[in-house]
Amino acid sequence: MQQKQGPIGVFDSGYGGLTVLKEFVNILPAYDFIYLGDNARAPYGNRSFDTVYQYTWQCVQWFFKQGCSLVILACNTASAKALRTIQQKNLTILPEYKRVLGVIRPTTEIVGNYTDSGHIGILATTGTVQSNSYVIEIEKLFPGVTVFQQPCPMWVPLIENNEYESKGADFFVKEYIHSLLHQSARIDTVILACTHYPLLLHKINEYMPVDIKIISQGTIVAKGLADYLERHPEMDDLCSKTGKVHFFTTDDTNDFNTKAAIFYGSEVQSDHIDLQKEGFSA
Ligand code: DGL
Repeated sequence: MQQKQGPIGVFDSGYGGLTVLKEFVNILPAYDFIYLGDNARAPYGNRSFDTVYQYTWQCVQWFFKQGCSLVILACNTASAKALRTIQQKNLTILPEYKRVLGVIRPTTEIVGNYTDSGHIGILATTGTVQSNSYVIEIEKLFPGVTVFQQPCPMWVPLIENNEYESKGADFFVKEYIHSLLHQSARIDTVILACTHYPLLLHKINEYMPVDIKIISQGTIVAKGLADYLERHPEMDDLCSKTGKVHFFTTDDTNDFNTKAAIFYGSEVQSDHIDLQKEGFSA
């Protein structure tokens, strides 16, 4: 039987994935996308492996029910804590054309090309840092490179609560950058390894020495997706292409529309979903 075409699913715990979706739409304007922010349960950054896995897998199943064959976890925390289990445990018993990809692999694949000193810094949620995913991936792909990590547990709450322009944000941006750079004076490249962080970019630029390269993931992950679709024409054939983008949130839509517009850079109209009512709760 011919498999039906569907949109590409883009997932985040909240708003951060919209910084990635924006670049997907820029690079692949013909494709259809649906975005889901699990705002009712965000942030994921300090949650356990099991909880992040349970929440993420529920959302991935919801995407499959909407007809998506390809789902991108546009969230480092979910990519770090849930992707491997989903790929190794859940997808192996589903049809081969159901695929889930993350944001860590496309980022680590190119990051070694940016550094001259071989010392790379990672700014991320506590969960992403604890998973060690960036260290493991980068050291595998670029054996000469050393990775230094700094958890930034206050950044997502500051962004989600609209406090990213405040004095409090200055304090915590300065604090975490200082702690990262204290680990090695030779760090010349820093990855913003959380899809929320581009909203703090102007403050990060203020406190980061000018000779350090700062890498945001949006365009890198978008190029990675375009490349993936080119290398997997069988998956590309399963993606519908009418240029539509549909937004969903597990929380209040008015709130989502207002905040999402800041991350996405243009107006957003969302629909609410109740995962429990749809039968996807833990
Ligand atoms: N945007 C998510 C990421 O890239 C993290 C947000 C959260 O803590 O839920 O890691």
